[in-house]
Amino acid sequence: MTNFQTFKNSQLWFVTGKGGVGKTTVVAALGLLCAEKGFKTLLVETHGLNHLAKLFEVEEAGYQGKKIRKNLSLLQVTPEKALEEYLLQQVRFKFIYQSLFNNNYVRHFLDAAPGLLELLTIGKIWDLADGTASSRQKSHPHYDLVIVDAPSTGHALSLLTIPKVVDEAVKLGPLKKKAESILNFLQDGDRTKIWMVTLAEDMPANEAIELSKKLHEEVNVHLEAIFVNSMWPQLISEKTFAEFKKLKIKSSLLDFYQSHYEQNQHYLNLLQKKLLHDSLFSLPLLPQKNSNELEIAKALSHELSSLLSE
Ligand SMILES: Nc1ncnc2c1ncn2[C@@H]1O[C@H](COP(=O)(O)OP(=O)(O)OP(=O)(O)O)[C@@H](O)[C@H]1O
Ligand SMILES: [Mg+2]
Repeated sequence: MTNFQTFKNSQLWFVTGKGGVGKTTVVAALGLLCAEKGFKTLLVETHGLNHLAKLFEVEEAGYQGKKIRKNLSLLQVTPEKALEEYLLQQVRFKFIYQSLFNNNYVRHFLDAAPGLLELLTIGKIWDLADGTASSRQKSHPHYDLVIVDAPSTGHALSLLTIPKVVDEAVKLGPLKKKAESILNFLQDGDRTKIWMVTLAEDMPANEAIELSKKLHEEVNVHLEAIFVNSMWPQLISEKTFAEFKKLKIKSSLLDFYQSHYEQNQHYLNLLQKKLLHDSLFSLPLLPQKNSNELEIAKALSHELSSLLSE
């Protein structure tokens, strides 16, 4: 069962799910919670996104990362920067690197080699999370936990699958060794945990079921828990609602709430049946009016605190 006791030794968390279901908000909420519990936590964004900086109302954090509050830092991984960092370790002097590669060249190179973009990104994330990785010790401080605001379903799957693909395709050499190390790290359920965010609605629920299968079958990584986000509240009991109907008491507002609530319950049941997962957590739909994204993340962080310490 998921609770804070299981987190002590984990180093890398991936938060994924369909687009728009609340991944970034849950990453921020988990980050706030872990920082508050005393974990030195790094939040990572990939694919050039800048959503977390906006949520926390701070300047872009960049590839070097920056501290945004006590025990909480933010960093953006881009494959271009990861490639530059890797090549600089090889050629040592920045001016040589700059004279050999300009951004356009690097961009074409990344676009032309299938999987390279993902390999560089996951390699850097592993570097940040793995306490034994050499380059991290030089360029970054130590973090207890790295939480990745992973891209949505398909891209996240490519990111997690690429080390396995390389490991199987390459027979010998440093690339093989690196892919093997990353894969071992990802498949070690004590060190790497995958969190999925979904909604109790048709498409997100079915996509979550698919992704859960693929994560297991294609990458064999550990799915820690699934957050079913933005659940509509039950305003009145089903019995009272039925009695209202019998008495022909009509309220379009009540019908509106009830239909969303019932739809959520239907898909929650489906998720429970299909995922056979004992860690399915419901998170409430919070009022968006008069509250900004940070306030929503803070409120979810309180919800998570009680859910995860039960
Ligand atoms: N439980 C909630 N209650 C109310 N609003 C929420 C809740 N969770 C997230 N939101 C809001 O929904 C919007 C989308 O959330 P978020 O950006 O976290 O989704 P995402 O999955 O990261 O999207 P993308 O795939 O575009 O990166 C945001 O405005 C966020 O504040
Ligand atoms: Mg997002």
